[in-house]
Amino acid sequence: MSTSILVTGGAGYIGSHTVLELLSAGYEVTVVDNFCNSHPEALNRIEHLSGRSLRRIEADVRDTSALVNALRISNASAVIHFAGLKAVGESVLQPQRYYDNNVVGSLRLLEAMAQCEVKTLVFSSSATVYGSPLSLPYREDHPLAPTSPYGHSKSMVEQVMRDTVASDAACRFATLRYFNPVGAHSSGLIGEDPQGVPNNLLPFVAQVAIGKREHLNIWGADYDTPDGTGVRDYIHVVDLALAHLRALDALAIPPSKTGKGQYLALNIGTGKGYSVLEVLAAFREASGMPIPSRIQARRPGDIASYYADPAKAKTHLGWVATRSLVEMCADTWRWQKGNPDGYQQR
Ligand code: NAD
Ligand code: WQD
Repeated sequence: MSTSILVTGGAGYIGSHTVLELLSAGYEVTVVDNFCNSHPEALNRIEHLSGRSLRRIEADVRDTSALVNALRISNASAVIHFAGLKAVGESVLQPQRYYDNNVVGSLRLLEAMAQCEVKTLVFSSSATVYGSPLSLPYREDHPLAPTSPYGHSKSMVEQVMRDTVASDAACRFATLRYFNPVGAHSSGLIGEDPQGVPNNLLPFVAQVAIGKREHLNIWGADYDTPDGTGVRDYIHVVDLALAHLRALDALAIPPSKTGKGQYLALNIGTGKGYSVLEVLAAFREASGMPIPSRIQARRPGDIASYYADPAKAKTHLGWVATRSLVEMCADTWRWQKGNPDGYQQR
């Protein structure tokens, strides 16, 4: 019998790519999503691409009884927890909504897992938990000093996970700190589908390329970086999805007989930073589109440069990112061109 995994937020950007890889690797998958930032069509396309079906449950992760029910009917042995709100600026304006969704939602999930004796969890954390870099690349032992309610919500859940593992030697938890996820599946059938004006660089660039937006605003060209624009560690979403499968493998290995649970906190990035201008040049090349841009003032709260030290993920998961910036741009463009309105059919 194949292993069954419960995926919260599985219809979203990163969740959908991970669910596709899970199905392709032979796992049974149950998705719990309330579709507050996604479309069920993503799940139809995953089934089409994998040639397999999945179980979908429309529910909120704050609903403990719905989660208990989902864990029971799926007979899941592990959970991958993507469900959450993710817009940094919005979290500053609506902090309680963010803590409720992200922190309370995770607490309810842990409660349901405890009730059903499910002890394995992979959690979506973020490089934003580090805050302003004291040293680069960020290593996992860099102090955690988030600067937004969103970032705090992630570090709070990490703390709850650490304390839960310390209290229960059967727990095997991994928290994956994603850097900047971009790109799409190479089929062009699933990808990132932002609602409204995109905050993030790649979706915005893609919408300029397709003609939905006039020009890209480059938020600052006076940083202390090689070309003055912000530098980030962009990671292809399929590489990121595969890190979740490797995490499940690593957590399935029985821990040493220390009597302690297992808790892994790992950076998931490439280790290489690219500037806004480098990304723009790569996207122009991949799309053949001119993509006008204008240099503007710095965006409040932005950091000049950050990137991962991904060595720990290599050691513990045997995982490294393999997809290049060119592939990230080409795959984003294929998705954007084929789905100018995302999953909303015209
Ligand atoms: P997304 O918004 O595309 O996906 C999140 C999914 O969770 C959506 O399908 C949404 O409908 C669902 N959801 C949200 N709240 C829910 C709730 N209360 N109950 C049930 N479902 C709910 O976001 P994403 O980019 O795929 O991110 C997935 C996870 O990774 C999030 O936790 C996010 O914070 C984290 N993360 C994302 C990034 C990024 O840049 N995309 C970077 C670091 C970490
Ligand atoms: C990247 C670079 C911008 C848009 C955010 C969250 C982080 C994580 C990933 C969830 C920066 C520049 C951007 C634009 C631009 N999410 N830029 N024009 O800010 O590194 O990270 O998403 O966990 O927590 O903070 O990503 O894509 O917004 O910006 O010049 O229109 O592109 O200034 O240098 P960021 P981003």
